[in-house]
Order: sequence, then C-alpha cells, then structure tokens
Amino acid sequence: MGELVVGIDIGTTKVCTIVGEVREDDTYIVGLGVEPSRGMKKGKVTDLNVLSTSISSSVHKAERSSGYEIGRAFVSVSANHAQSVNSKGMAGIPSSRPVQMGDIVKAMNAARAIPLSHGREILHVIPRRYNLDDQEGVRNPIGMYGFRLEVESHIITSDSIGLENLTKCVESAGVFVDRFILNPLASGDVVLTPTERESGVMLVDIGGGTTDLAIFIEGTVWHTGVIALGGYNITNDIAHVLNLPFELAEAVKLEFGHADPRAVQPLEMFPVQPFGEEHISQVRRSDLVDIINARVAEMFELILQEVKRSGYEGLLPAGVVLTGGASLLPGMKAVANKVLQMPARVAQPEAITGMAEPLRHPSYSTSVGLLRLGLIMDIEEDRRAALNKPRRKGGGEMIVNGIGKAIGGLFRRFVTVDDE
Ligand SMILES: Nc1ncnc2c1ncn2[C@@H]1O[C@H](COP(=O)(O)OP(=O)(O)OP(=O)(O)O)[C@@H](O)[C@H]1O
Ligand SMILES: [Mg+2]
Repeated sequence: MGELVVGIDIGTTKVCTIVGEVREDDTYIVGLGVEPSRGMKKGKVTDLNVLSTSISSSVHKAERSSGYEIGRAFVSVSANHAQSVNSKGMAGIPSSRPVQMGDIVKAMNAARAIPLSHGREILHVIPRRYNLDDQEGVRNPIGMYGFRLEVESHIITSDSIGLENLTKCVESAGVFVDRFILNPLASGDVVLTPTERESGVMLVDIGGGTTDLAIFIEGTVWHTGVIALGGYNITNDIAHVLNLPFELAEAVKLEFGHADPRAVQPLEMFPVQPFGEEHISQVRRSDLVDIINARVAEMFELILQEVKRSGYEGLLPAGVVLTGGASLLPGMKAVANKVLQMPARVAQPEAITGMAEPLRHPSYSTSVGLLRLGLIMDIEEDRRAALNKPRRKGGGEMIVNGIGKAIGGLFRRFVTVDDE
C-alpha cells in the first residue's frame, strides 16, 4: 500500500474523517468516521469545546475503522471564511536557457505579493494561466524559451482568526492540521470531469449552512465564492411556515420535499403533527414545495449574481455541477436550469474504492476531495522544498494539475499503526 492520507471535513451538519490511499485513478478508502457536527454555524466555529468533541468522535471512529492512529490531516475550510482576488506576477528568464520550475515559483511569489488587510492570510495561490512574452495562455511553460514569464493567478485568502479557531479544535482532538483546503476546491477535484474543467464549468456545493462555489476554466480555478444559505435554511423555512419542530421539518423535507412545483400533483397531501396540536393534520404537498422552491430559487438567484460579478458568465458551456447534501433534493437541477439558464447535473464521489459505499453521496464530495487535493498540494510543496523554498504553513499552492508518478515518492506521515 502507498501513502495513507487523512482528510477531516468539518461541515455545518457533519464532521467526516477519511483515511485513504490516493492512487492515480481512484482513492482507496481504508477507514472513515462520520459524526453530527455541533458548535459550527454557517461554516464558522461558534463553540470551540463542542466542535472539538464532534471532531474527536469522528477521528476516533475513523481510527477504529481503519486500525491506524491519526496524527495529521488535511482540513476543509468553508468559503465563508474566504475572499478571492486575481493577481499577476512576473519573472525574467535569462536568454541562455529555457523556463525552469524556479522561474514559475518566482513569478508565483511575485503574484502572491498582494496587499493583505489586517487579520487575513493567504490560503491558496492557484495559477490560472501563463503568458510567455506575447504568447498568452501557455499551459506549461517549463522547457520553453522566452524572456518574460507572467503568471495570472487566483489568490484565496482567509481570515486568520477563523483558521486559528479551527486549528485549535482539530489540535485539541489530537490531530495536527497539515493544511487547510477550501471546500469547493476539494469538491470540484472529485466531481468534475477533466472535460468540464477544461471547457468551463461552475461547481456549486450546497451544504447545510453554506453554498460554496468555484468556477473552473481552462482546467483550473478562475473564481471562488460563497452564498450564506444551505439546506438548513430550507428546513428552517419549512419549520416556521408549517409550525413544526426542526427535526420533523427535516424529516418532511427528506420524505416529501421537492424544489420544482411542476413536479407535484395539486391534490397530493401528507400527514404531520404541528406544535401544540394533538391530532395529525394533512398538509398539501404543493404548499411544502412552494416553501422550498422560494428558498431554492433565491439561492440560485444569488449564485447567478455571483457568476455575473465574476465576469465569466459567458464562459461556462459545461454549465453547473451541483453537489453537497442539499443537491439531492429532487427538482434542484430543474430550478438551477431555469434560473441560471445553463445545463446542470448533480454529482457525488465516484472514483472511490475500498470502504467506499457510505461515501457515494453528494454530502461527501468535499470529504473525499480533501485527500486527493491535499496530496497534490503536498507534491507541489515537495517540489518547492527541492528548490530550497521554505514550506509555508496553512493552505497550499498548485502548479500542476495531476498526481502522476509523484505519489510513489512520498512516505507515511499521516498515520501510524494503532496498537490498541
Ligand atoms: N436526500 C436529501 N434531500 C434533501 N436534502 C438533503 C438530502 N440529504 C441531505 N440533505 C441536506 O443536506 C444538508 C447537509 O449537506 P452536507 O452534508 O453537504 O453539509 P455540510 O458539509 O455538513 O455543511 P456545510 O458544507 O454547509 O458546512 C442538510 O441540510 C440536509 O438536510
Ligand atoms: Mg460541506
């Protein structure tokens, strides 16, 4: 077996720890632990102790199911902590030799020199494209000749306090944070096809507390954003309007919910027992669907505004790929089609083997993606180390978009055999 890596996806509704081996064509799952998440709201920590307990339980479950002791992990960060900006950097190339890795690193370092407001730090620097002299859109400039290498990069920053709080929670569960990874990047890595990423696609991860999005064009990330609404808000609306306890509203949503009013019969009814009533009453399903549709349509309107703000509206022929737990709500695709006016599909992790069955659900796209993307970022860092560039704490940078043979050279750092 190759190197085992660990991802901890700290969501608003669940914490999911996965131990697995990232291989060229799949991720082999060796152990996992899923626990309800407490102490988190809209992707941000609201109670350190309570969240630490959820993380501990999830980690212990994953340790028991894998038989390994977990020492470090890649950890997800909600886009609600993040802001992003595009920035360019330049490096001069001596005329006597072709472009080398060191030139790319130099140009990337120049690109990352952006003014950072107080309390923010860089989480990821992602090259969008390279320009070599007047040749724009060079995919991989290494080995090519030119005088001036320019990198156009997408820089994602996060608030430092948010990261510190998350670090504290994970560390008090006995696990070192190897790096943080922005949610939609991890999900995108798992559910998007290379063709979608190449032609232009938007990834929308509709979770419990937030909807995280990322736009991929020419194979890489061009824009990231977040909407502070998720499945929780849908359930909350149902609870308010139908006067139901939250748990019952959640159950009603899962059993009878639909986002598309055209899909239900006008006379269809379902039974519920509202607060303060002794008897079960019948509710018209179309009323439930109207409640859901209003919220879901609002979510996609906000997503549309975000796409327009990005300026890449016309560059997404592959449309939108929905994932995250709430994307499973029937009718989501239809509302996405209608509001965004683009093709839509719902996706979940596919290229997984081993203990994979429980993870074949859109809720686990980020969780699975953490392992693969974390490893890619590690490989980048090892390359940097080879160039004597010091390791940076926190997020990661991407230079290549593939894992290839580099995996074999890594060693086991994340887990040790659990002798208990
Ligand atoms: N079959 C389903 N139909 C409708 N909604 C569903 C279904 N399954 C899960 N959900 C909803 O998905 C949401 C949880 O999704 P997910 O597990 O992706 O969230 P999370 O990662 O914990 O949260 P976040 O990423 O926002 O912090 C809940 O609101 C839940 O009601
Ligand atoms: Mg999530």
